[in-house]
Amino acid sequence: MEISVIGAGHVGLVTGACFADLGHRVVIVDNDAKRIAGLKKGAMPYYEPGLEELVLRGIREKRLTFTTSMKEAVDKTTIIFIAVGTPQKATGEADLAYVENVARSIAEHLPGYRLIVEKSTVPVQTGKWVHHTIKTYLKKKHPFDVASNPEFLREGSAIQDIMKPDRVVIGVESERAKKLLTELYKPLGVPIVVTDIASAELIKHASNSFLSMKISFINAVSQICERAGADVEQVAHGMGLDPRIGRSFLNAGAGYGGFCFPKDVEAFIKISETFGYDFELMKAVRNVNEHQKRSFAQKVQKALWVVRGKTIGVLGLAFKPNTDDMRYAPAIDVIEYLEGEGAAVQAFDPQAMHEAQKLLPNVKMCKDPYEAARGADCLVIATEWNEFKELNFTRIKKLLKQPLIVDGRNIYDPDRMKKLGFRYIPIGRGRHEAH
Ligand code: UDX
Repeated sequence: MEISVIGAGHVGLVTGACFADLGHRVVIVDNDAKRIAGLKKGAMPYYEPGLEELVLRGIREKRLTFTTSMKEAVDKTTIIFIAVGTPQKATGEADLAYVENVARSIAEHLPGYRLIVEKSTVPVQTGKWVHHTIKTYLKKKHPFDVASNPEFLREGSAIQDIMKPDRVVIGVESERAKKLLTELYKPLGVPIVVTDIASAELIKHASNSFLSMKISFINAVSQICERAGADVEQVAHGMGLDPRIGRSFLNAGAGYGGFCFPKDVEAFIKISETFGYDFELMKAVRNVNEHQKRSFAQKVQKALWVVRGKTIGVLGLAFKPNTDDMRYAPAIDVIEYLEGEGAAVQAFDPQAMHEAQKLLPNVKMCKDPYEAARGADCLVIATEWNEFKELNFTRIKKLLKQPLIVDGRNIYDPDRMKKLGFRYIPIGRGRHEAH
């Protein structure tokens, strides 16, 4: 198939590269000329495991090309995926200006039948507006379809998530669109859920909101565990074995971050408001998350008694492992709080230090975890990178001014840390809290 993907961001680039790997001819469009020039030479705009290899293979085998020209893409391809950003406005709702722009541009260049597919996370009824926009700006009355095909990829495992998804959701309004999209996805051999466009749009927002709710729920439970002397890891395990609940996304921690959950929860609250429904439950999900981030920073403060003049080593900056993405990373909130209290922060992250330095100019970036621990009064774990799970703790202990670890991701065994001589403070493990 001839496919174009508009937007070379976290969703568009991986999606396009995966389609190319499945044997389709794909052109990826972005108006960022520097990004496109880089991609043509094989330079990735962000870190995602396996992406570089996939893109290079696509380029080599001439199935994957890049351009800044919408005309070129619309001319050449039958299926056009819109994967541009839908950032959050100051008011919380999704900014759909990029989506509208792309829709107008598609309309202006449309040379014949095209299927236009929303891939970006958009509020319900965006499909209707995209359809309306294209119809309004069409130069000649060519037939076209609009469809919704939300993406569920997670950063860090994006390729696997696209190639082996749990399900593919397609929202369509014509047989032609349904046929094209089912043909495209059939080779994946996974369930394809066909719905109307509005339902597909809602499936995406509702799924992300539900997952955020799971995290906030367990984070709230972690607060009770700490106060009641219970262990949130044991509680999550016991709950998770019930298939109606499931263990995944029940990891208590320093709060959720990233460019999806915080933004989508906020957008979902706003959409509901637009339709006259006060989604109080989602407001609580957001508030619990804000509280959890603050409470984690206060844990560090409490463990140190006085923060002013102390040095704090932070391991992990990205909003989660296997990415260099710093957007809405809980580490930012925690570090800003501690700096505000007068601490000097030194940090290490395997991928995100370059991005992080732009947002956290006062943090001293270190070359490895040991440098981040050197001379620090406390070591804080903010992201659960695998390489932090097996450190040389004898060395870490010698480097720290005092053997104190505050773990916002519960990556260590409390009994082991105690045996190694650390004062170890995890999240929601009341039994192990060293007060
Ligand atoms: C998420 C959705 O999982 C994905 O389906 C959607 O397409 C985009 O949003 P992503 O933001 O890449 O993906 O990361 P995810 O792995 O879901 O983690 C999001 C945040 O939740 C991270 O900050 C992570 O640390 C946090 N989290 C996740 C927890 O705190 N506890 C958990 O149990 C799981």
